Amino acid sequence: MRRREELLEQAQRIAHVGYWERDLRTERITFSDEACRIFGLAPREGTIAIEEVTERLHPEDRAIWRSAVAHTLRGGSRCDLDYRIVRPDGEVRFVHSQGDLTRDASGRPLSLFGAVQDVTDLKRAEHLTQLVFERSPDAICIIGRDYRYQRVNPGFERISGRSAKDVIGMHVADVLGTTVFEQTVKPKQDRCFAGEEVRYADWFTYPDARRYISISHSPLRSKSDRVEAILAIFHDLTDYALASEALRSAQAELAHANRVATTGQLTASIAHEVNQPIAAVIMNAQAALRWLGADPPNLQEVRQSLDLIVDNGARAGEVVSGIRGLLKKAPPRKNSIDINSAVLDVIVLTRSEVLKHGLFLQTDLAKSLPLVEGDRIQLQQVILNLIMNAVDAMSSLANDAKELRISTSSDASDRVLVSVQDTGPGVDPNTADRLFEAFYTTKPDGMGMGLVICRSIIEAHGGRLWVTANEPRGAVFQFSLPAKQHDVSGDGQRHALAA
Ligand SMILES: Nc1ncnc2c1ncn2[C@@H]1O[C@H](COP(=O)(O)OP(=O)(O)O)[C@@H](O)[C@H]1O
Ligand SMILES: [Mg+2]
Repeated sequence: MRRREELLEQAQRIAHVGYWERDLRTERITFSDEACRIFGLAPREGTIAIEEVTERLHPEDRAIWRSAVAHTLRGGSRCDLDYRIVRPDGEVRFVHSQGDLTRDASGRPLSLFGAVQDVTDLKRAEHLTQLVFERSPDAICIIGRDYRYQRVNPGFERISGRSAKDVIGMHVADVLGTTVFEQTVKPKQDRCFAGEEVRYADWFTYPDARRYISISHSPLRSKSDRVEAILAIFHDLTDYALASEALRSAQAELAHANRVATTGQLTASIAHEVNQPIAAVIMNAQAALRWLGADPPNLQEVRQSLDLIVDNGARAGEVVSGIRGLLKKAPPRKNSIDINSAVLDVIVLTRSEVLKHGLFLQTDLAKSLPLVEGDRIQLQQVILNLIMNAVDAMSSLANDAKELRISTSSDASDRVLVSVQDTGPGVDPNTADRLFEAFYTTKPDGMGMGLVICRSIIEAHGGRLWVTANEPRGAVFQFSLPAKQHDVSGDGQRHALAA
């Protein structure tokens, strides 16, 4: 018997549960040791006067305690309530107390018997959780399987412009609109109800403004494995989204300005590229006229001249449309690009410039290159900038020393490599990184933006741009780009997102 009592004492200590019994005739209370500890009283043999215990009740909680006990004494249900006690040293504890009425054989109330548990730690944790919920700048809500709001925090009230009182019980579709709910939100919530943690970000229209919101849906399970509800957290990223959009468009503006400026440097060269085929057209047209005027007209020769006119006309057209592409201000596209053909188109535009400066041009383009993915105009802009820099770097050299070599290749990991080599003064390896800083230029009329823009374009394409020394002299600017991925399956993408 003694052993069982000891075990009971230990169990009470571990669970912070004490028992008590109030004798209704004597109005004295028996407290277990743990009950004494909870109330901050010295454990003792014998009973305690009821006043000594009620004195410990927190003044604000005395009224509810009294009415709950009175209710049970009148024969009502089990007394079950939470209240605070103030220990003699002033410390406040939260307790949960339950008690039943016991009666004698004739049905007269004898005593109240029950248990008291110290739930202070639990309350504190609950209080903290409550604080997080209340004070979070993010909107937080709990959504039931019927797609209705069960709880929302003040952050949610702010963002939705509705009070918790109104929103609780409402269907998500009634808050967001049926279309947004059916098309965007419900598919995500259904995945969450199926057990998945779902994250996404999108623009949403709220009563006061459009906002870019990052949303997470976490499944809430009760005891069973079934997802009972969704914990949804909404983080407002509008400012970041607007800033990054502004940055993107500023970058695009800058890139465009750089294309216009670089193309401007090529005007003479471009005029030459267009004039040449036009001169050929005129020459061939005159020849055709002559063959027609012969007696008899030589139709065979006329046909040949007309074929040449068509070819040259097409060539001039290609040059012009290449220039128009570079000058156009268009949002970046994502296309499959054959880097060799992009390089060749830029070479056509720069050919006369290169010849005019007395450069010896060599090209070495790899036969079967994988395609890359991205914006053709932007990649051509990079090649154009690198060629023009090489031309600038060699402008003060003697003619027989000026070599420009443009090559393409692919490496073992299927990356496509483009390199532009010159035999100019080269770059100092210690300061090579400065060349890629904005406004760094060594030219009297330079802008110092070319390489910055080139690097940002290449990096936006998932590649790298760097400079090394050429042998025996000069610089090699090269960039690498990842080859276009052929088959990325839907599943693979989903896992990547979930990771
Ligand atoms: N091929 C090269 N050889 C030597 N120096 C180069 C070469 N290309 C670029 N540079 C150096 O990098 C600087 C920055 O180039 P860039 O960003 O294109 O601006 P800009 O051409 O307007 O000067 C150039 O002024 C030059 O000093
Ligand atoms: Mg430049």
